[in-house]
Amino acid sequence: MPDTVNLFNKVAQHYDALNTFFSLGMDRRWRKRLSNQIRGAESVLDIATGTGEVAIETVRNLKGCRVVGADPSARMLELAVKKISASGNSGRIKLARCGAERLPFKAGTFDAVTIAFGIRNTVDPSKSLSEMNRVLRPGGRVGIMEFAIPRNKFFAPLYLFYFRNFLPFIGSLLGTGDEYKYLSESTSAFPQRESFIRLMSDAGFRTEKPIELMLGIVIIYTGTKPISPKG
Ligand SMILES: C[S@@+](CC[C@H](N)C(=O)[O-])C[C@H]1O[C@@H](n2cnc3c(N)ncnc32)[C@H](O)[C@@H]1O
Repeated sequence: MPDTVNLFNKVAQHYDALNTFFSLGMDRRWRKRLSNQIRGAESVLDIATGTGEVAIETVRNLKGCRVVGADPSARMLELAVKKISASGNSGRIKLARCGAERLPFKAGTFDAVTIAFGIRNTVDPSKSLSEMNRVLRPGGRVGIMEFAIPRNKFFAPLYLFYFRNFLPFIGSLLGTGDEYKYLSESTSAFPQRESFIRLMSDAGFRTEKPIELMLGIVIIYTGTKPISPKG
């Protein structure tokens, strides 16, 4: 398991620009789709918040809601503070430095929990999912966005070439080749679709059909914490 916190401390400075470049400018739209899945929530925990992109998009998209953005990387959080302040949302977004495996919040604190491109980086995804379930109130919503390998037999080989060769190559020109190699390798190795939905169910969520974006290169998994444990 690589030290992903150090890795993100290292790429923090260029993270947003590279994200937008490699996602062909789609990343903001993806985050809005994620926040659409938790409509009605008034208190939201955004785990692996990074530079605060999901937190900012959520308060823009969901009127009146407040967000706690949590991340273990000090460097990412420094940038998040600046971005949140520049967006005029400091009153609605607070930040906490912590990892997903051990959340410093009481059971049932939040109406919704989100995590974008973060669950794959946690040391123990099952423990992280259980923690997400614990801090949600019964009936609360979870939205998890993560990269995946597309299944379309024509598109998949093209995408795999881009993802496994082109992206780390461009990354290496920008001095972040190892990080993009890690992105590609960890995405291929991480549970996807049915396997990930099984992990969510094991953690106590009632799961739904996942939303595939851009032919399945990104997936939004959603679910609810049942009102009663058997619900
Ligand atoms: C790819 S970035 C995603 C940032 C943001 N959610 C976004 O959509 O741009 C992944 C984030 O996961 C964080 N991370 C690494 N290990 C983590 C852990 N154990 N628990 C929670 N977050 C972690 C990193 O610090 C980094 O900010």
